[in-house]
Amino acid sequence: MKVLVVNGPNLNMLGVRDPGQYGTETLGQISDRLRGRAAELGVDLEFFQSNHEGAIIDFLQDSAEGADGMVMNPGALTHYGLSLRDAVADSGLPFVEVHLSDISRREEFRRHSVLSDLALSQIAGHRGDGYLMALDRVVENARS
Ligand code: DQA
Repeated sequence: MKVLVVNGPNLNMLGVRDPGQYGTETLGQISDRLRGRAAELGVDLEFFQSNHEGAIIDFLQDSAEGADGMVMNPGALTHYGLSLRDAVADSGLPFVEVHLSDISRREEFRRHSVLSDLALSQIAGHRGDGYLMALDRVVENARS
């Protein structure tokens, strides 16, 4: 089984960026934790991060076919990325939307996601642990 792990704009800056909201863990450290959990689950992961919506869309068009699910933190594209939404819908991939921060308790513009109605679920406010929870949910879905 293969699961894509996709991170959107500015998530390459985790560890430095606004630790009050996002914690001090880097994306590399979160990815290492995911690799450990994936090994326990017997799942292959493919990671992708970009600051560019079109690059994420290209990745999905190239990689979704061979995958069974996806863990995605779309960053700010969550709130307005309609091209990304279309690409995710077209991919047909079951996915969990992850946010490190609790977007329901932040600024008004962060409270709406243009992707969440497509997702198996949304996990927000658990920092890096949310990615592990999302991976478990995606794998459970693929095995059910
Ligand atoms: C985020 C929340 C978004 O609103 C923000 O633009 C991000 C990170 C999160 O993980 O909490 O870049 O997706």
